[in-house]
Amino acid sequence: MSVELKTTFVMAEDGVDPNIVPKKKLNNGTEMPAIGMGTFGSDRFGNVEIANAVIGAAEFGQRAFDCASVYGNEKEIGVALKTILDGGVPREELYITSKVWNDMHGEGDVIKSCKQSLADLQLDYLDLYLVHWPFPNFHAKGCTVDSRSADAKPYIHENFMKTWAQMEQLVEMGLVKTIGTSNMTKAKMELVLRDCKIKPAVTEMELHPHFQQQELFDYYVANEIQPVGFCPIGSPTRPDRDKTETDTVDIEDPVVKKIAARLGVHPAVVCIKWAVQRGQIPIPFSVYQAEYVSNLKCALPDYMRITDEEMAELATIDKNCRLIKGQVFLWKENQTWEDLWDEDGVIAQ
Ligand SMILES: NC(=O)c1ccc[n+]([C@@H]2O[C@H](COP(=O)([O-])OP(=O)(O)OC[C@H]3O[C@@H](n4cnc5c(N)ncnc54)[C@H](OP(=O)(O)O)[C@@H]3O)[C@@H](O)[C@H]2O)c1
Repeated sequence: MSVELKTTFVMAEDGVDPNIVPKKKLNNGTEMPAIGMGTFGSDRFGNVEIANAVIGAAEFGQRAFDCASVYGNEKEIGVALKTILDGGVPREELYITSKVWNDMHGEGDVIKSCKQSLADLQLDYLDLYLVHWPFPNFHAKGCTVDSRSADAKPYIHENFMKTWAQMEQLVEMGLVKTIGTSNMTKAKMELVLRDCKIKPAVTEMELHPHFQQQELFDYYVANEIQPVGFCPIGSPTRPDRDKTETDTVDIEDPVVKKIAARLGVHPAVVCIKWAVQRGQIPIPFSVYQAEYVSNLKCALPDYMRITDEEMAELATIDKNCRLIKGQVFLWKENQTWEDLWDEDGVIAQ
């Protein structure tokens, strides 16, 4: 049965007032809602289902949506955003993120890609635009993790700064309010901060109780770069090709489950509340109303609280489980995915 795109927007009476959702002040003076909603449906959900979830979540007060050209659904989300705006939500209340994909890092391509996202999303500016990955390595949609591209390259700082200069240009053109990065490392960020004209205000990174990246998180915060946490629940329903035998499951963690039992919520909600209380901006994905509403409520200071003792116990979870390893972006034979993440502080070449 095909799903129809919703054409109406009506604020839910029992929704969350968007004005009481806390915001994070960014290093350029703008503000970003303390929680967003992911829009990557992977193989599980169709574009229309996701667009309908965007409208549904907005009806319950969600205003921030994490989009990307590579998710292949910005056209449908654009129709959803138009429905939301036509339904009376002011543009300034929405916070829309998009990202330039790896095959559009070249001269002029970043601007072209941003304009395409704007056209698809039916917007005249983006609140936040991110470089999705710090290198131009491309892979075919749905390919297996052992496939490699012959054109893949390591991070070349000079090239990245040419890409970043186009990001800066987008701000100057008024097409984007804020720019940032995604899937960066400390070694790469140090070079970008040294050479940029406009500092990244936000960086998107994998963050969940089993992958807390405390050192990197602290580095970004110390440098006034706001971390946005992707896969905040540990992406329990990601496709099998993105799973490895050693992966651990956040929502089955005994500490997470114990807190969930005390609060009477699903362990996923504890992951989101933990993220909010720790200070990153989580962007959980869900197409189900009960889930996206409870995720949004986690941003409210009065909606549940993980105690300081429980936060301390969560911080001691001794797991280091990166889920999005990025194997398909490797550029040499005999490399392992760890090479993408500069774990020894040196940018792998
Ligand atoms: N920058 C990047 O490179 C990057 C990489 C990955 C992801 N992202 C972004 O991050 C977003 C989130 O990541 P993700 O979708 O992989 O993982 P996630 O948000 O950690 O997990 C999503 C899954 O968790 C379950 N869930 C959500 N809310 C729940 C709740 N309240 N109670 C119970 N279960 C709940 C849902 O499963 P069911 O559907 O089974 O209910 C949902 O499919 C993406 O959509 C995307 O926007 C960015």
